[in-house]
Formats: sequence, C-alpha cells, structure tokens
Amino acid sequence: MMFLVLLLVPLYSQGENDFQWTQTERGSFYYGTFPPTFTWGVGSSAYQTEGAWDKDGKGQSIWDAFTHKKGKTFMNQTADSSCDGYYKVKEDMDLLKELKVSHYRLSISWPRLIPTGIKAESVNEMGIKYYNNLINVLLENNITPVVTLYHWDLPQTLQEKFGGWQNITMITYFNDYANLCFEKFGDRVKYWITFSNPWSVAVEGYETGEHAPGLKLRGTGVYKAAHNLIKAHARVWHSYNKHWRSRQNGMIGISLTTDWGEPVDISSQKDIEAAERFVQFNFGWFANPIYNGDYPQIMKEYIGQKSAHQNLGMSRLPIFTSQEKAFIKGTSDFLGVGHFTTRYITNRNFPSTQGPSYFTDKDLMELVDPKWPEPESKWLYSVPWGFRRLLNFVKTQYGSPLVLVTENGVSEKMHCAQLCDEWRIHYLKGYINEMLKAIKDGVRIQGYTAWSLLDKFEWDEGFSERFGLYYVEFKNKNKPRYPKASVQFYKKIIRANGFPNFRETL
Ligand SMILES: *[C@@H]1O[C@H](CO)[C@@H](O)[C@H](O)[C@H]1NC(C)=O
Ligand SMILES: *[C@@H]1O[C@H](CO)[C@@H](O)[C@H](O)[C@H]1NC(C)=O
Repeated sequence: MMFLVLLLVPLYSQGENDFQWTQTERGSFYYGTFPPTFTWGVGSSAYQTEGAWDKDGKGQSIWDAFTHKKGKTFMNQTADSSCDGYYKVKEDMDLLKELKVSHYRLSISWPRLIPTGIKAESVNEMGIKYYNNLINVLLENNITPVVTLYHWDLPQTLQEKFGGWQNITMITYFNDYANLCFEKFGDRVKYWITFSNPWSVAVEGYETGEHAPGLKLRGTGVYKAAHNLIKAHARVWHSYNKHWRSRQNGMIGISLTTDWGEPVDISSQKDIEAAERFVQFNFGWFANPIYNGDYPQIMKEYIGQKSAHQNLGMSRLPIFTSQEKAFIKGTSDFLGVGHFTTRYITNRNFPSTQGPSYFTDKDLMELVDPKWPEPESKWLYSVPWGFRRLLNFVKTQYGSPLVLVTENGVSEKMHCAQLCDEWRIHYLKGYINEMLKAIKDGVRIQGYTAWSLLDKFEWDEGFSERFGLYYVEFKNKNKPRYPKASVQFYKKIIRANGFPNFRETL
C-alpha cells in the first residue's frame, strides 16, 4: 500500500473520552438487534473471482493487461483462473444459501459484455447469458443481487485508444454499457452501484501506479480521472432515472471506500483539521459533489494553493461548471460505504520537497497506534470504533443518506489446518457492533455486506491476502472452497439479526 505508516510514540488515552455521538462508551459492547428490515449480505467482484479471462468471447480488461506484465503483482500472479467462479455458479450459490444471506454483491465485467468497451462495435451474447443465469439463480434462491457496474476492469481497448479515465469520452462509453445492463438485467436487478471505490481507481491507477493501468501521473492525472468518474456516475444515474426507473423501480448509487482519520491530538486544532482533510480528500472528494454539489472546499483551497506555488496557471483540481454541479448533485439513491481500517492523522508542519502529488497536497501524516493489535495484513488494523465515527460523519455531512455498507472485512495471511480464523471473527464482531451503535445514533443503514464470500485475487497483492469467509485452495485446479470458522459466526449474527443477548453471542 502507499500509506505512510509510522509508529506512534505517545499514548492516546485522552482520545478515548471525546466521543460525542451517544453516551455509549467507545469500548463497550452493545447488545441489541438490527431493524427487522435490515439486510445481510456478502460480496465479490468479477475480476477477482471469475477467471475465464479469455473465454467465451470476453475482451481483455486493463487488469488482464496489467497482471500479464511482469513485476506488477505479488509473485507475478494473475487472475486468469482465480476462483473459476465463471464455472461455479451453482457451487457458490450453495455457499450463499448456507450463509442465509439476503443479498449478494457482485460486479459485471464490462469487457465480458462488450469486448472492446464500445457497444456499437459488438456485444458478447455469451457474457449476457452468463450474467442472466447468475442473476436468475440468485433470485430463485431469494437472494437479492446488488450489482456493481464498474469494479475496476476497464476494457483494455479503451485504455489503449483513449487513455482510460483520463479521457472524457469514457463517460459516453460507460453510459452505453450501463444502459445495456439496465436493458438486459434491470427487469430483475433492483440495486445498482455505478463505481466501486473510485478513490482507488484514481489514486492507485493514475497516481501511484500500483493498480491497473499502472500510471504515475503525480498530482494531475489522479484528479482528472476522478473528475471523469464523478461525471460518468452522474450521467448513468440520470440515464437510469430518466429511461429505466419508471419501468424497473430500482435504486442506483455509488460505493465509496475510505479509512477513518482520527486526530492524533484532539486538543490541537491543526490535527483536527488534518484529520478532517484526510477524510475529505478521500470520501468527500466523491461524496461532496454528489450530495452537496461540488468538491470539498478544503480540497479546492489546498490543491489551488499548492498549484499556485508550483507556478501552474491553474489548479490541478478541475472545476465543475455550475451546470455540471447541478447535474451531479443528488445523483445517488443510496450511498454505498466501504470501510476497513483507521489511521491517526497529524498535521504536517514541514513543506514537501517533492513535486506535485495527491499525497503531499493533503499536508498530513498517517500514523498507527502501537497499542492496536498487530494486523495480519500490514495495512489492515482492526479499529472498530472508527467505523461508527465514519458512519456518523456520513450522516452529518451528506444529509442523512440511506446507507448500504458495501464492503467490510479483514484479510489474513496465515491459515491453519482447522480454518480457524479467530482474527476475522473478532474483527466482524467489533465492526458489526459499532455499526449497530451507529444505527442507534440515527444513521440510516439499510444493510451490511461482509467482504468477501471467497478468498480471491487481491489486485497487486495477488493471492497473498485472504479476505474470504470461505477458503479457496488455489493450488488445486478444481479450486475447492472450504468454510472458515467465521462462516458459522456470521450465520449466527444473520440468524439472530445482531446480538440479542449475552448468551446468544459467541
Ligand atoms: C516476476 O517477474 C520479474 C520480472 O520479470 C522477475 O524478476 C521476478 O523474478 C518474477 N517473480 C517471480 C516470483 O516469478
Ligand atoms: C481522448 O481521446 C482522443 C481520441 O483518441 C484524443 O484525441 C484526446 O487527446 C484524448 N484526450 C485526453 C485528455 O487524453
């Protein structure tokens, strides 16, 4: 990961007492159940699980191209076959039935449906058939599909011809693809997500280059890509709203993933502001245009000032016209929230010596608390209370939107023969409990999606991080799945709809 992680020397016992959203103490466990209409689910994405990367007419995605270059992923691994989910719809349905989830979050591979990305050029009937079948089998089992249109696998042709999300033409091609999905699947799919974690698409794809397409356009490309992603989201929401909603009666939103940022020193105004900047530069970057009509003021100020010091004629952060602002504002029927971990944030007092960069634009440093338990993956510290704070932030900043938690979970590197993922059970228990507290705080949360159903290809980390409730034996060509202990734990939470009393919990 690209995060600057330093060890934090001072202690933070002071920070424990400032929680204001309710009287409930930050550390205490809260017994109670979720609203009766609350939905429980589990998630996955196409490139990470499907395999069959070049089968049945599928075109190449930027991730196929990226992983086939050497030196881009852990051990040069690719998702060419991954979990072979493409061939295992029935088998994976049994896992979902075993969990008794009410929804399943999946994504459609754009190049599986439209090999070159351009609908006018060709549509792949085999791809349509695959997703039709997947959706039908879910519905036959009373599992609601929550479908993401873009989980990072842009058709490679669009990258090569146009420079991908750098180029404004992506908006039209994405809109054509989305309309095809609404036309073919919208009679049965009622929950659509335009983009999954656009922050990662922009930052890791166009700033650090750790993800496909692997570009390092420091401090510029990242903002351009995000600008087009936001506009593309709005365009697709309007398409759905205008042409499909009355017939199909579904909902369409975006899914944003962020860490929570907590000030290191809560008596320091500078740290408080730095922590706010951390969240605004990540979540607010996308949520603020969609809910409040423009980029966060703080992003405009900081990037504007930095650009001026760099003697650039204009800010590296693009500007929305007033028409665009009006077009973008209000384009999410629900807000997908993804969340994994928290950082302590402190103001950076010394100037950066580097050139333009998204990271130096923020003028802050990210730290972790040495008291936090050692994570299994180096970046994913379990800090459950950060989740409650983020959910309350979402409520106050964006006018109490309807929230669907679209991804939350934890990876492990080790596994023991007994599939005993105690670490995951502990994580889920803490995070789900903080989500329950957030509901008591008044956050409108409709459902929760554990991330993820299966161990799968983790992007630049290859198969070295395992997020699954089910273990996948990748070395075996049949890719068998085995339940980890967390399956029984999550089932129990789903069955009880929370934590009804002491005895029923663990
Ligand atoms: C991955 O590819 C790079 C570049 O060709 C090579 O140096 C490295 O040894 C490869 N790693 C593995 C594990 O094959
Ligand atoms: C977008 O693509 C067109 C066609 O290839 C090209 O002429 C134009 O320069 C591209 N724009 C950007 C910003 O890359």
